[in-house]
Amino acid sequence: MGIKLVVLTGAGISAESGLRTFRGNDGMWEHENIEDVCTPRALRRDPKRVMDFYNFLRKGLPNHQPNAAHIALAELEKRLGDDFLLVTQNVDNLHERAGSKRVLHMHGDLMKLRCMDNSDHEFMFDGEETLETKCPFCGAKTRPDIVFFEEVPFYMDEIQAALRECKEFVYIGTSSVVYPAAGFKSFAKSFGAHVTCLNLEVPDNDPYTDVSIQGKATEIVPKWCESFK
Ligand code: OAD
Repeated sequence: MGIKLVVLTGAGISAESGLRTFRGNDGMWEHENIEDVCTPRALRRDPKRVMDFYNFLRKGLPNHQPNAAHIALAELEKRLGDDFLLVTQNVDNLHERAGSKRVLHMHGDLMKLRCMDNSDHEFMFDGEETLETKCPFCGAKTRPDIVFFEEVPFYMDEIQAALRECKEFVYIGTSSVVYPAAGFKSFAKSFGAHVTCLNLEVPDNDPYTDVSIQGKATEIVPKWCESFK
């Protein structure tokens, strides 16, 4: 049997854990320039600047705890087992700390670094990356394991396969403006999935969304998870 439910999460699910979302009032991209910290050019031009930005975010993570929405998704995974797949655009580790196991970090993972010479060389890392940090497999230079703008997100084959076969696709706490994630709802719908949106702001008459539930993630996600059959 294939995957029954695919969940896509974005920054909004971690907002009530105190992590900044990217867009909107006081969002991350109001404080930082994408061109300085989140593009391949930025990494070539000033790698230390890029590393320091992600070092700062990594160092702050232990101060933020998973919230009721992360926990509800981890519990739903326990109930559904192989029928469940969680895809997140978030680079924080709150899903894992809530107990989720089947999580694909399509935009990368703050708790990992990657080799500059061989993209298969990735490793867990909870310290401060510097220009001297070396790949433990081959000794080459490293970079944050973050998918920058203009780079291709991870796990796309696996995600598309799951979207093709799922009965339900739910997207939570995402503004749905960054592709390819923004296209998952129409892709899943075209293969017959029922599509649900759980967000603080919901789309008006979105042709790909069957049901929208408006509210804070910590309030609406646990309820929705409980009711999912
Ligand atoms: P955004 O910041 O674009 O959108 C966050 C969404 O969460 C908005 O639609 C908010 O209305 C909603 N929201 C805020 N607080 C909420 C709450 N308490 N409960 C429920 N919803 C809430 O974040 P993403 O859509 O995740 O990529 O952004 C997508 C990508 O753009 C990110 O992964 C990142 C960014 O640039 C990279 O860094 C590559």
